[in-house]
Amino acid sequence: MAMARTTALLLVAAALLAASSSAWEVNIQMPASAAVDDAVAPLIHALRPLLGSGKQAGVACDSWRLGVEAYNVRDWKTVPANCEGYVGHYMLGNHFRRDCKVVIDQAIAYVDGLKLAGNGKDVWVFDIDETTLSNLPYYATHGFGARPYNATSFDAYVMEGSAPVLPETKRLYYKLLKVGIKPVFITGRTEDKRAVTVGNLRSQGFSGWMSLTLKQHGFKGSAISYKSAERKKLEDAGYVIVGNIGDQWSDILGAPEGARTFSRPDPMYYIA
Ligand SMILES: *[C@@H]1O[C@H](CO)[C@@H](O)[C@H](O)[C@H]1NC(C)=O
Ligand SMILES: [Mg+2]
Repeated sequence: MAMARTTALLLVAAALLAASSSAWEVNIQMPASAAVDDAVAPLIHALRPLLGSGKQAGVACDSWRLGVEAYNVRDWKTVPANCEGYVGHYMLGNHFRRDCKVVIDQAIAYVDGLKLAGNGKDVWVFDIDETTLSNLPYYATHGFGARPYNATSFDAYVMEGSAPVLPETKRLYYKLLKVGIKPVFITGRTEDKRAVTVGNLRSQGFSGWMSLTLKQHGFKGSAISYKSAERKKLEDAGYVIVGNIGDQWSDILGAPEGARTFSRPDPMYYIA
């Protein structure tokens, strides 16, 4: 049933992608007056499921997603049930890619404006999951975050080492190497996943990072405390964190944050 649902969603996503430009053109031509005329109304109804604000009870999913990305909505466990389709469309369609491109364009513009010391001490911190590698193949068959987190099945997926690259992040990564800023990975993945993580990064075209820090077994603190402590170690060793990018707020909060932080979109899960 899950597969059938996903397949259906993929088909809908493809159809929406094909139809989206004309649909939005028509939508933009709506009369300026507040009254929505009958000829336009059917189209608006057709777009409602995409916003998750149709007949199903629940939050308006676009507002919920903004709340998540802006860190107004916190400590959530799952995507609201009525937003599974919305998040699926968002992740599989153009919107997610467009949003990622804006983030990376800004990061690269920032890099272009830097006056670098050129002493080999400039580093940039990268998170891995949903920042460098995408776990969308897993989430697409597990409700796009609408189902409770299952460590067993998620770990099994990670251990395949098959997560695809997030191409915009890779563009930033190679830009940094070109200008002499060293990439550093700090991930919430645990130390036992080092080999599979290195293999996955390499198979997706990454090389030349300065270090890869994984979480030690038995660490009990929050992601904020773990990641900020690791960044502190970098600074104590004389490195300058010129940038820091992640998909979770816990990747980029907590001193030292880095001279600038960048937040990639992720409406599928929350890590404190
Ligand atoms: C979690 O995933 C495992 C492995 O796929 C499965 O056997 C188990 O039933 C799942 N647990 C829940 C609560 O869905
Ligand atoms: Mg992440």
